[in-house]
Amino acid sequence: MTVKSESIQVGLAERSYQIIFGQGILPDLGAQLNRVGFPKRVALVSNPAILGHYGQRVLDSLASAGYDCSVITVPDGEEYKNLTTLESIYDQLIIERFDRSSGLIALGGGVVGDMAGYAAATFLRGVPFVQIPTTVLAQVDSSVGGKTAVNHRLGKNLIGAFYQPKLVLIDIETLQTLETREISAGIAEIVKYGVIRDSDFFDWLEENAAKLLALDPEALLHAVKRSCQIKADIVEIDEREGSVRALLNYGHTFGHAIESLCGYGDWRHGEAVACGMIVAARIALNMGLSDEGANRRVETLLRRFQLPVDVPVFGLNQYVDAMCRDKKMRQGSLTLVLNLGIGNAELFPIEDVDGTFRAVLPELEAKIDG
Ligand code: NAD
Ligand code: GLY
Repeated sequence: MTVKSESIQVGLAERSYQIIFGQGILPDLGAQLNRVGFPKRVALVSNPAILGHYGQRVLDSLASAGYDCSVITVPDGEEYKNLTTLESIYDQLIIERFDRSSGLIALGGGVVGDMAGYAAATFLRGVPFVQIPTTVLAQVDSSVGGKTAVNHRLGKNLIGAFYQPKLVLIDIETLQTLETREISAGIAEIVKYGVIRDSDFFDWLEENAAKLLALDPEALLHAVKRSCQIKADIVEIDEREGSVRALLNYGHTFGHAIESLCGYGDWRHGEAVACGMIVAARIALNMGLSDEGANRRVETLLRRFQLPVDVPVFGLNQYVDAMCRDKKMRQGSLTLVLNLGIGNAELFPIEDVDGTFRAVLPELEAKIDG
């Protein structure tokens, strides 16, 4: 069975792959895997909630295309994206005698995708894998570009590898069952692409915010495709984050500090990134890189997407400590992604981390010694 779809190529020489987009294209999975010569023995990694919605459709498609599929069920939630769950994936693969001529399929959001991707990167020194992202965040960000990881108890995504999938299959229809809060959180990453790379796309987001929130298929497809194209363009230049890929971390330095201070799970990743973008935009304004009009537009758009823009109140020193523990610190110095108005961003090494953030976070003044 073939359903109407479009694709873009992530060009990485022998690690190149296609991202396939469409509405209602899950039944096409088996045919797409055959097309890329994916191994016939596969393990589908997902969680109970997602399997409940989409498992049967995926399994039917695999069976009709001649795939022999086992299901590996992992628990739902960021708190399970860890070495214990990873080990349970290896256990099942070993017990069921998976070998080098087998492959993994990740069906789910960023948690399942990151974890299954890392399992694929490391099991038998690497077996092929495919991403079927089912959240907005995973469709526009985590499934593309090959970052795979699990969390360590001392920090997020500290154990991981760059490992590209053989294919990313994005069915926007799967977003219909996603909670509104998850949709908004994923849209934060879409807004990010507009701010750092594409002012026309940012304009388009302003004009189409209501349609996106209503999951209008045409608007969704455009936003997901444009986001993936921007990410693919960046990853093609800098696969392993030696330079320009770091721009994708816009809003993430402060965002990760929010996640770490509030406890992972309380704030969705995209919500923390939204708030982090507000802080980055304030710093850019303070350094004369941007203007008040741009900041107002960013804040207004994030509010329209029902994203948080108020910084949770902790002591500034707690934020600075959390940022300095982040893996984005290099040789003791912090580099921030700052926007130059809307549609462009650059990396700026920050010498005085405390002073830079203190200057733009007057609301934390009362908690300064938190
Ligand atoms: P998630 O994977 O936890 O999914 C959010 C919730 O939605 C879960 O409860 C999940 O079961 C549910 N869900 C998923 N798809 C659904 C669907 N179609 N219908 C109904 N429910 C569905 O969260 P996320 O926001 O997708 O991903 C966050 C993770 O992604 C974090 O661990 C973060 O570190 C990682 N991440 C990775 C990258 C990367 O480049 N690898 C980039 C950004 C974020
Ligand atoms: N999510 C940031 C990256 O993939 O580099």
